[in-house]
Amino acid sequence: MVHKPRCTFAIISHPDAGKTTMTEKLLWFGGVVREAGMVKSKTGDYAKSDWMELEKQRGISITSSVMSFEYNDRALHLLDTPGHKDFSEDTYRTLTAVESVLMMIDSAKGVEAQTIKLMDVCRMRDTPIATFMNKFDREAMDPFELLDNIESILKIQCIPMTWPIGSGIDFKGVYDLRSKQILGYKDAKDPFSPNLVDASNLDAKHVLDFIGAELLVKLKEDLEMLETLIPPFSKEEYLNGIQSPVFFGSALRNFGVKELLDMITEVAPTPRPREAKLAPYDSNAEVIEIDPSDDEFTGFIFKIQANMDSKHRDRISFMRVCSGKFNRNDKIFHIRTGKEIKIATPLMFQARDRDIVEEAFAGDIIGLYDTGKYQIGDTFSRGKKLIKYTGIPSFSPELFMRVTSKDPMKAKHLEKGLGQLSEEGATQLFIRRSTNEKMLGAVGALQFEVVKFRLEDEYSVNATYEPVAWAGVRWLRFEDPKVQNKFMEDYSSVLMVDKEERLCFAVRTEWDLRLAIEKNPTVKFYKNSDYIE
Ligand code: G4P
Repeated sequence: MVHKPRCTFAIISHPDAGKTTMTEKLLWFGGVVREAGMVKSKTGDYAKSDWMELEKQRGISITSSVMSFEYNDRALHLLDTPGHKDFSEDTYRTLTAVESVLMMIDSAKGVEAQTIKLMDVCRMRDTPIATFMNKFDREAMDPFELLDNIESILKIQCIPMTWPIGSGIDFKGVYDLRSKQILGYKDAKDPFSPNLVDASNLDAKHVLDFIGAELLVKLKEDLEMLETLIPPFSKEEYLNGIQSPVFFGSALRNFGVKELLDMITEVAPTPRPREAKLAPYDSNAEVIEIDPSDDEFTGFIFKIQANMDSKHRDRISFMRVCSGKFNRNDKIFHIRTGKEIKIATPLMFQARDRDIVEEAFAGDIIGLYDTGKYQIGDTFSRGKKLIKYTGIPSFSPELFMRVTSKDPMKAKHLEKGLGQLSEEGATQLFIRRSTNEKMLGAVGALQFEVVKFRLEDEYSVNATYEPVAWAGVRWLRFEDPKVQNKFMEDYSSVLMVDKEERLCFAVRTEWDLRLAIEKNPTVKFYKNSDYIE
């Protein structure tokens, strides 16, 4: 995948909206799978694979952290955002490593809770978003209602590129607003030879014959409304995260997916410049912009995954290449430790396969075998340039556990284990200042199970886990040291520090938080550790 422009993206959706189904279809277009679960192996054969099934059964994302494929002369990297029970901080952090996002909506349900949370993260970087209204082969909400739902809840302007004609048993297909053709749903089998009906003249008899009188009246009314209500699609507005092109269809039936993918490969951004801090990386550090076309290689770790292959018990750190070119056997500079590291076996992923790659470019994701040296957010460079990529924050957890070792002699093991697991991003570790208690924070309950299992398995620590009914944390900033001192006294019981010793406020209830904000107007409360509004 050398010269093709990169498109590094992720799918955001609520569980069951169809992300897995869509992923399968995208991989099919990329020639990686032949049908659901049939994955191309290294030899080029298609073998029945159970990776998606396994993923579903275990509820844990196993091998599909990155899926790379080519389509329309672009090299696409689809990054997995675990969305089921294992919804975790990984899900959020993955979004810091992509340039654009595909949002899947279940058209019978509209916007759902998890999508709202993920959109908040996208908004921090104004990530461009394309939208797919899924499951039109079933009864769906009215398309205007769906658009309104997204615009009012997610505050993004929807620009339909296609328009559905009916839904469920009456679903006739979609009207392409640019080509003025109807893409027929019935008998649609091969997306590459679609059943197209010229609808430039909606009064033509063949249009009436195709969709019937009732749906034709509705289509005409809808198109008139669209013309008055919806501005034209602007690539610039899309790239700035203001507009989202919207497609309607059915991932399951592979209907409307090609049109969406064609659009993504046409307009989705190639790697963009990224901000990095110069040493000493503190809050006063100078921030520079690093261009993907810079000659010098740079990259950062956005995800660490342990036990990817149960046979090898390895840990893989996923690095996003941000600039320059990376060659196998290059010595790269690990800025946090100041060490040069030779990377002899950089990995690239394709569905369940992983291959050693010879070179990688800005936008690519490579996997590094890791014996515990790396941490989330670690930056690498070639020329010993002292930088640290910003914008890879921790996010407020929603669930908390107080952890204590059952055996006091094992307290050190516990500390080490929790420290390492939090570096991997498995959970977040906070230390309560008044009591020195160790508080674990997670976004999904499964994260605690993973930590418990791994503490026992890898660190031989049996611990007690007591749930703490907190709603979240806020990272704090103070303008005035006097205010800070007073605040530290007033709220001492809910103050904690995170792994980088940043001060946090534990939110017992939303009401408590609101009160604290009202009483302390000069104190800033942030939902993420990078203090991004
Ligand atoms: P997720 O990864 O977002 O959680 O969703 P997934 O793709 O697993 O889809 C959730 C369910 O919705 C699956 O059904 C899937 O077949 C179905 N689905 C996805 N896209 C469409 C669509 O376009 N139309 C219809 N009608 N259904 C769709 P399931 O019964 O839960 O699983 P399965 O038995 O089909 O595997």
